[in-house]
Amino acid sequence: MKAIRVENPGPDYRLVLDEASKPAPKPGEVLIKVAAAGLNHADLAQAQGRYPPPPGASEVLGLEVSGEIAALGEGVADFKVGEQVCVLLAGGGYAEYCTAPVECVLPVPKGIDLVGAAALPEVYFTVWTNLFDAARLAPGERVLIHGGSSGIGTAAIQLCAARGHDAFTTAGTAEKCAACERLGAKRAINYQEEDFVEVVKQLTGGRGVDVILDMVGGDYIQRNIAVAALWGRIVNIAYQSGMTATVNFGPVLMKRLSLLATTLRARTNVEKGAVRDAVQREVWPLLESGKIKPVIDRTFSLADAQAAHARMHKSEHIGKILLTA
Ligand SMILES: NC(=O)c1ccc[n+]([C@@H]2O[C@H](COP(=O)([O-])OP(=O)(O)OC[C@H]3O[C@@H](n4cnc5c(N)ncnc54)[C@H](OP(=O)(O)O)[C@@H]3O)[C@@H](O)[C@H]2O)c1
Repeated sequence: MKAIRVENPGPDYRLVLDEASKPAPKPGEVLIKVAAAGLNHADLAQAQGRYPPPPGASEVLGLEVSGEIAALGEGVADFKVGEQVCVLLAGGGYAEYCTAPVECVLPVPKGIDLVGAAALPEVYFTVWTNLFDAARLAPGERVLIHGGSSGIGTAAIQLCAARGHDAFTTAGTAEKCAACERLGAKRAINYQEEDFVEVVKQLTGGRGVDVILDMVGGDYIQRNIAVAALWGRIVNIAYQSGMTATVNFGPVLMKRLSLLATTLRARTNVEKGAVRDAVQREVWPLLESGKIKPVIDRTFSLADAQAAHARMHKSEHIGKILLTA
C-alpha cells in the first residue's frame, strides 16, 4: 500500500509518498481502507522528531481517519466489513490502510460525508474529555477557549454554543475572529490587539469565566488565573508558548482554582472507549441534527502531505486540514 514516510526527521523533514506493508488487524482491531486523514499539530511535532509514537503504535503519522472497514480482527462483533466509520488512532493514518482498536471507532454521523468525517475524532475526543471529564463544565457556565480558529478551537466553540454556554475565544487575526463568531463564539478577541483578561472581565461584569481551555501556556498561565472565576478550572492541552513560567499562586488559592492538563494519545483503549461512548452519546446527535458541523479548511491529496503541513506550520488555516487517500 501507499503511505507517507518521514525523510530526514527534524526541522527540515520531508514527507514522501512511499510503499509500505499493509497492516493486519490484531484481535479486537479493525482494518480500515482510508478515505481521508485529519492533520493534527502533533503530526508536525512527530515529523520534527519531537513527539515519538507511544509503544506499539504505528510509526506512520496520522491520528485520525475516516474510511470503510476492510477486515475484522478476531473477536470483533460490533462492526461489519464495508461499514463507514471515523476513528481515533495512536498513529498510522497517513496511509491507504490502517488498523484501529474497536474502542476508538465511531460510525460516520448521518448527514456527514465520508471525507468530512475525518475532521471529527481527534477534536471531539479531546474537547469532550477536557471540558467535561477534566474541567467538569456544568450547564450555564462560561468558557474561554484559546486558539479559537484551530481544529480544536472550532470544535470547542460549536459544542459549547450548542450546549448553551457563553463561549469567549482568542485568535490572531480579524478574519479568524470573525470565523469564530460565526461558529457561535459570544465574542472573539484578537490577541494581537486586545488583552483577553480585560475584555472577558468587562463582558462578565468582573466575574470571569468558569472554565478555560488553553493550548498556549507560557505567559497565558498567569493571565488565565487572573480571568478565572471563583472555583474556576483551567485545563491545558498544550503549552505552545512554553512549558515553564514564573507564577503567583496567590489567586489560585484565594479563588479556589483547579489547574489541569491532559493528553489523549497514550491513554489505554479502555479509557479511550469511555470517551468514545460519551462523544457518540452527546456530540453525534448534534452533528446529525446539523447543529454543529465539521469545519474543513482545505483538503490535500496524500501525496501533497508536505504542502498540507506547510499550511499548518504557517497557521494559515481555520478548522481542519485533511488529506485524501
Ligand atoms: N493534549 C491533548 O490531548 C491534545 C489533543 C489534540 C490537540 N492538542 C494540542 O492542541 C493544540 C491545537 O491542536 P490543533 O491540531 O487544533 O492545532 P492547530 O489547528 O494548528 O492550532 C494551533 C492553534 O494555536 C494557536 N496559537 C499558537 N501559538 C499561539 C500563541 N502564542 N498565542 C495564541 N495562540 C496561539 C494558533 O492560533 P493563531 O494562528 O491565531 O495564533 C492556532 O489556532 C495543539 O497545540 C495540539 O498539540 C492536544
